[in-house]
Amino acid sequence: MTLRIALVGAGAMGTIMARDVYPVVTEQVSVVAVVDRDHPRRAELAGGLGARAYGSLAQARAAEDLGGVDIRLPHAAHADLAVEALDAGLHVLVEKPLALTAEDCRRVAIAAARAGRVVAVAENYPHLRAVRAARAAIDDGTVGEVLALRSTRAYTLGDEWARPWRLGGGAASGLLWDQGTHHTSMLRVLGGEIVAVAAHRAGGAAGVETVTLDVRFASGLLGTSLYCWGTPARPAETEGLVLGTLAQLDIDVAYERPDGVARIVDGTGSRALCAAESYYESHRSIVVDWADAIATGRQPLVCLAAATADVRVVLGARESLARGGAEVPLAPPHLTHRSTA
Ligand SMILES: NC(=O)c1ccc[n+]([C@@H]2O[C@H](COP(=O)([O-])OP(=O)(O)OC[C@H]3O[C@@H](n4cnc5c(N)ncnc54)[C@H](O)[C@@H]3O)[C@@H](O)[C@H]2O)c1
Repeated sequence: MTLRIALVGAGAMGTIMARDVYPVVTEQVSVVAVVDRDHPRRAELAGGLGARAYGSLAQARAAEDLGGVDIRLPHAAHADLAVEALDAGLHVLVEKPLALTAEDCRRVAIAAARAGRVVAVAENYPHLRAVRAARAAIDDGTVGEVLALRSTRAYTLGDEWARPWRLGGGAASGLLWDQGTHHTSMLRVLGGEIVAVAAHRAGGAAGVETVTLDVRFASGLLGTSLYCWGTPARPAETEGLVLGTLAQLDIDVAYERPDGVARIVDGTGSRALCAAESYYESHRSIVVDWADAIATGRQPLVCLAAATADVRVVLGARESLARGGAEVPLAPPHLTHRSTA
C-alpha cells in the first residue's frame, strides 16, 4: 500500500526530495502535503508534486489522512517534530542529525517504541553503493586485515546551503554538526563501533572552517576524519580510504555526476567494485528502505540505534573541542539507547 506522507521543510533539501526523489518512488510513497513556514516555498513544492500546502504539521494532519512524515528541517527542529509526529501515530523519516543531545535521541526512541512506528534517519553513506561494496570487500577478505580508516569531506557551500542557521554560530550550526554524523555513519559501517574521539577545529569567515576527528574503534582500529568548508569541491572526492594488509580501498563520492564508485587498489593497479552512482541517488534508496521497513516490520538500514551512535560521536567531538582536543571516551551504546525500538 502506498504510504501517504507530509514533506516538512521546503528548503534546499526538501526541494531535492520533491524534484528528484518523490516523483520516482510513487509506488511506495505519495506526498499529499508539503509543510513549511514559508508560504512561497511550500506552495511551489506542493504545486510541483500535486500536493496541498500547509503552514504546520498539525494543520496538515487535521486536513489529510497521513501515514508518515518526512522531516527536512534545520537541525534544532528534528527531535521535537519527530516526537510530535510519532505521538500522532505517524512513521518518521528524519534528516540527519537525528537530534542534538543524547536525551533528545532517547525522547525520539521512547516515542517510537510507544507508538510502534518506524523511524528512519536520512544518513546517506550506509546506502551508497560504494560504501556497501567496500564493506563487502572487507568481509570477503579482499583487503586483508584492516589497519586504518580515513575520511575526507571538502567543499564550498553553495548559495542555497549558506543559511543563517547553518552558519550563524548557534549551537546547531557549523561544519561538525553538518557533516559529522554523515562521515561517522560511513566509518561505523567500515570499522564498527567508535569508543573514543578527539577533535580539533580551525575557523575563519562564515563558511570557512576545518574540523579533524581522531577516532578509536572498539576493535582497536584507528581512524581519522578531515572536514573542510571553503575549498572548491572535486568532481569526485575519495571520501573514504580503507588501508588493509592486502590492498587499499578508495570510496569515491560524486555529487554533480554519477561517478561515485568503490575501487580496490593494490600493487597491480585498481579496479571498480560496483556500478557508479551520484550521491543524491542514495536519497531514493533511503525512502524505499523506509517504506519497506514499514511494510515488513523490519528495522530500516539507518535505524534509531545507528543514528544515535552517530550523534554520540559528534557530541564526544564537541566535548573534545571544549577540552582542548582531549580524547573523550564514549559510553557503550547499550547504556545510551537501551529503550531504542
Ligand atoms: N542528507 C543530505 O544529503 C543532506 C543534504 C543537505 C541538507 N541536509 C539536511 O536537511 C535539513 C534541511 O537542510 P536545508 O539545507 O534544506 O535547510 P533550508 O534552510 O534550506 O530549509 C529548511 C526549511 O525549513 C523551514 N522551516 C524551518 N523551521 C520550520 C518549522 N518549525 N516549521 C516549518 N518549516 C520550518 C524553512 O522555512 C526552510 O524552508 C538539515 O537537517 C540538513 O542537515 C541533508
